[in-house]
Amino acid sequence: MKRNDFLKTSAIMTGVSLLPTNSVFAQSLQQTGLDKLTDKDGYFALQPLPYNETFLEPSMDQETLHLHYTFHHGDAVKAANVDLANIRKAIDSNTMDTVDYWTKKLSFHLSSHILHTIFWTNLTNKKTDPSGELLKQIEKDFGSYDKLKALIAKTSKGVDGNGWGILGYQPYTKKLTVLQCENHEKLTQWGVIPVLVIDVWEHSYYLKYRNRRAEFVDNLFPIINWDNVAERYGVATKIG
Ligand SMILES: [Fe+2]
Repeated sequence: MKRNDFLKTSAIMTGVSLLPTNSVFAQSLQQTGLDKLTDKDGYFALQPLPYNETFLEPSMDQETLHLHYTFHHGDAVKAANVDLANIRKAIDSNTMDTVDYWTKKLSFHLSSHILHTIFWTNLTNKKTDPSGELLKQIEKDFGSYDKLKALIAKTSKGVDGNGWGILGYQPYTKKLTVLQCENHEKLTQWGVIPVLVIDVWEHSYYLKYRNRRAEFVDNLFPIINWDNVAERYGVATKIG
């Protein structure tokens, strides 16, 4: 049985679906192991959300999700295309004066596109828990699921300024690792493949939670889609 068929059959048998079957996120992850970030012409593209804007309420309200997805994620996608075009323009015209600026911008905007794309799929409206190989790896690397939760929560809440708490698979050590990312691109370890990302930029929570970032992070845990995290972990161990 092909991997795609296996995943579809498994989902039907267990009565759950990682994501709607028409989700480009799900299709891309299952087919290539990576999220779909570009259109058919190779330009960075904002893909449809895998659910409607009220799906994550009350943890994440509709207005916040709308603004976050449409403008914060959406504008990063547009900007990443501009950054890349300007780097190409500089190369083609042999005028490299501006490339350090556009290279930094591309790092920022493309990292935003990657992390936000993962973030939407990491959330759902029902409670799930880690299981199978993912749970085994969590217990090996962190002691227990509860200890991992405490670590991610503390790391996410403690970001200086805007950033992300990230659980990733480090292929160089074959371990899961937790990162405290500033902005979208700082404080990484080369090679880490993100499997769970928690957006703690103020745009993620300020309308509903005001300055209470810790409350927002605590309210995200019940809607983390651990089935999606497990799928991502499985893929990461194969491609990493
Ligand atoms: Fe964000």
